[in-house]
Amino acid sequence: MKDMAMTEAGLSPLLRVEGLAKRYGARIGCTEVSFDLWPGEVMGIVGESGSGKTTLLNCLAGQLAPDAGRVLFDTRGRGMVDTLTMSESERRMLGRTDWAFVHQHAQDGLRMNVSAGGNVGERLMAVGAQHYGDIRDKAIDWLDRVEIAEDRVDDRPSAFSGGMRQRLQIARNLVTGPRLVFMDEPTGGLDVSVQARLLDLLRGLVREMGLSAIIVTHDLAVVRLLADRLMVMKSGHVVETGLTDQVLDDPQHAYTQLLVSSVLQV
Ligand SMILES: Nc1ncnc2c1ncn2[C@@H]1O[C@H](COP(=O)(O)OP(=O)(O)O)[C@@H](O)[C@H]1O
Ligand SMILES: [Mg+2]
Repeated sequence: MKDMAMTEAGLSPLLRVEGLAKRYGARIGCTEVSFDLWPGEVMGIVGESGSGKTTLLNCLAGQLAPDAGRVLFDTRGRGMVDTLTMSESERRMLGRTDWAFVHQHAQDGLRMNVSAGGNVGERLMAVGAQHYGDIRDKAIDWLDRVEIAEDRVDDRPSAFSGGMRQRLQIARNLVTGPRLVFMDEPTGGLDVSVQARLLDLLRGLVREMGLSAIIVTHDLAVVRLLADRLMVMKSGHVVETGLTDQVLDDPQHAYTQLLVSSVLQV
């Protein structure tokens, strides 16, 4: 319904995924995945460990080559373009500008031997910022937005706690104003109290910036707070989709019912 209404209103999706599939030998990573993501929308992908969430996210973000399907992105310059067939340099450019990727393990998304300010500033320089003072000011501003004190700007992330590293990774990713953010278990592996604070921060940023995002998690509390819509995955298949509250409060598929009743949660 929503999709039709938006199409009739002349709006186009930011991302259109058609028949995406990825196998590892005989094993299914993910298969028959199709959906549209609209501007400003946050999509949650949930499912137990091994259900194909990371495989799907990596295929969407151009980090893993799928075996079949298309991933169309509404580029600024050329409109809807299949990101799987675009040139390597065009895809790299997307990764530096319109796309951002928040990894589960902050060290995969940070340069651990570069200062916190440098980690944020580097993204700005990658899109052409040159004035040192401006870059440093903007970096400090973003550290503040993710609640990292200014006097830590010259410290390396190796000296930070897990929660601080993750907040730094978020600042590094959002500083350039991406149009689509991919996140893989952004709160995974952190202490519960640290998770709550990070989630709160993320929710504020998502709302404030009107971010479009795809968030993979096995933690339903994360999508309850952040996602407008959900895709539920099991054994590589999407078994249920819908508005977050609808799926969580009135799950239709037996697997989603199990997931929600927390039987499968650890
Ligand atoms: N590099 C790989 N090689 C072989 N099998 C893999 C690889 N990565 C994932 N898989 C398999 O693909 C399926 C989906 O895994 P994954 O996407 O990591 O799920 P999730 O992120 O939901 O835990 C699982 O059966 C997993 O064992
Ligand atoms: Mg995973």
